Amino acid sequence: MTKAITARAHTNIALIKYWGKLDADLIIPQNSSLSLTLAPFYTDTTVQFSPELTHDQIKIDGQLLSTAAGQRVHTFLDLVRQRAGLTAFAQVDSTNHVPTAAGLASSASGFAALAAAASKAADLELSLPELSRLARRGSGSATRSIYGGFVEWQKGHDDLDSQAVPFQEKIDFDIQMIAILLDPRPKKVASRAGMAQVVATSPYYAAWPPTAEQDLIAMKAAILKKDLNLIGQLAEANAMKMHATTLSANPPFTYFEPETLTAIELVQNLRNNGVSCYYTMDAGPNVKVICSAKETPAILAQLQQHFPADHLLVAKPGPGVTYI
Ligand code: PMV
Repeated sequence: MTKAITARAHTNIALIKYWGKLDADLIIPQNSSLSLTLAPFYTDTTVQFSPELTHDQIKIDGQLLSTAAGQRVHTFLDLVRQRAGLTAFAQVDSTNHVPTAAGLASSASGFAALAAAASKAADLELSLPELSRLARRGSGSATRSIYGGFVEWQKGHDDLDSQAVPFQEKIDFDIQMIAILLDPRPKKVASRAGMAQVVATSPYYAAWPPTAEQDLIAMKAAILKKDLNLIGQLAEANAMKMHATTLSANPPFTYFEPETLTAIELVQNLRNNGVSCYYTMDAGPNVKVICSAKETPAILAQLQQHFPADHLLVAKPGPGVTYI
C-alpha cells in the first residue's frame, strides 16, 4: 500500500475563457486563456494506491461513485499508473468546498487536487509545469488551478507544451469576485459537450480563437497596469463572445437562465451609478462579479435586494496547489 496523500487545489474563474479543443484526448485548447484562482472554493483530495483493491474506489463528498460516474477519474488514474509503472487500484476521497457543477468550475479544483495527490502517492515527484500538464488531461480548466493568483494557460501545440504559467501569483491591488449562485443544480450542457458542439457547428466559432488571443494580450497589459475597469471590461466582453457561440451552434443552446439576465442587469445598473463592477460567466447560469473589496459592500447591498444573502459568495484571490 502506498502512503495516503492529500492535496488541496482551489478553483479558478477565467477572465479570458478557454473554449474549444484542438485535441480532445490530450485536451489541447484552441486558444490560450487566463484566470484568477479563488481562495474560498477548493477541493481536498486524498489518494492511496493499494494492491488489495479490485477496482478504483472513488468517493466524492462522502458518496461512492458508480463505475460509470467515476469513469473520468478512473481514466485519469490509469494515466498516472501508466506513468508510474503501477498496477494497484486507488482509493480516492474528495471533498468539494465548491458547489459542485454549478458553473463554479469544480472540475478545475477537482482534477488539480487529484493530479497532485495521485502523482505524489504514485511517487512521481512532478514539477509544477508537469503537474499542470497532468491536470490538463483531467479537465482543461484544471491546468490553471495548479497556480495561485492570475494564471495563463499557454495553449502550446502538444502534450509537452500546453501548460499553465503563473502570470502574477501575488496580487498587490484590490480585486476580487462575488459569485452569485442562481442555480445549484448540475449544468444542463457540460462544458465538454457544449464546446465540442460549438466547434463542430457554429459558423461564428472561427472568430473565437483569434479574438480570444487578442483579448489575452490586452488583459495581461490591464493586469500589469492594475486597471480594474479595463480588466472588467475585457473579461465581460470576452465572456459574452464565448456565450454568443452557443446561440449560434446547431442545435442552439444557452447557459443563461432568466435570473442570469437579472444579475447582469443589476451589475449594469450599479455601473451606471458609478460603481466599478463587471460580470463573467462560465458553462453554467451563475454570474461572477469582478470588483474591488472596497466597493463590495455597496454591490452586495444592491444584489441582496434580489438574491438571498447566502447565495452571494465573496471570493478573494487564492493560492496554488498545496499538500495538507
Ligand atoms: O475544463 P472545463 O471542462 O472545466 O471547461 C472550462 C470552460 C469554461 O469554464 C467555460 C472556460 C474556462 O476557461 O474555464
